Amino acid sequence: MSKLAIIGGTGLNQIDGLEVTSTQTIKTPYGQPSADFVFAKIDDKEIIFLARHGSPHSIPPHKINYRANIWGLKEYGVTEIIAIASVGGITPSMSPTHIVLPDQIIDYSYHREHTFFAENLSQVTHIDFTHPYNEQLRTRLIQAAEQANITISHKGTYGCTQGPRLESSAEIIRMQRDGCDLVGMTGMPEAALAKELALHYASIAVVANWAAGKSENEITMDKIEHHVKQGMLQVLKILKSYINRFALV
Ligand code: HPA
Repeated sequence: MSKLAIIGGTGLNQIDGLEVTSTQTIKTPYGQPSADFVFAKIDDKEIIFLARHGSPHSIPPHKINYRANIWGLKEYGVTEIIAIASVGGITPSMSPTHIVLPDQIIDYSYHREHTFFAENLSQVTHIDFTHPYNEQLRTRLIQAAEQANITISHKGTYGCTQGPRLESSAEIIRMQRDGCDLVGMTGMPEAALAKELALHYASIAVVANWAAGKSENEITMDKIEHHVKQGMLQVLKILKSYINRFALV
């Protein structure tokens, strides 16, 4: 049986319509997750919700304890994770408020605890990361979006930067040359850690702004928040449609 967790990012610190059954403070061998786990029901289906940046939103991307988050979810029986992210749009179709299901990732982050396979090893382990996101989960999310009548991009390459600063325009030009369609700060090591623990993982990305140099306008937190808020309404519809159709008990 599958069990779903939703990791909420910027703009999705909580979910309206969530019937909270309990919250629990979690400890793991890697320390504490970003926030208490919220055990909840959406349309009578049980899920676990975790606020990636803490609750209230106070942990910057490079300080998130990704290992504790993913380990804790696995400990609680989670088998699939839908990770919500806000991103900058690089390629022309990735305009603000648009929603994308990335299918590939490039990691530009550094100095993050990025693996469970580092200590006390009986053998060296290299996971296959050809497909960073789970294809079955992605396909189901695409179907859920169609059912909810929401237009999304089915593919995109997500470039993960270190943050918390935004990028220079030269960095974005380089990322575009590398093949990135989107830029965000939290996709890694989260996706790889989920794969190391054999969890099905997919991400729904909301475009919050044009990436640096892709628009004449200055990137402001106000505008980012405004676009994320609009996009998150769509994300919620996709999540509800997914849960209704595919989740669990
Ligand atoms: N860059 C990196 N991360 C982001 C951005 C951006 O432009 N917008 C939202 N998250």
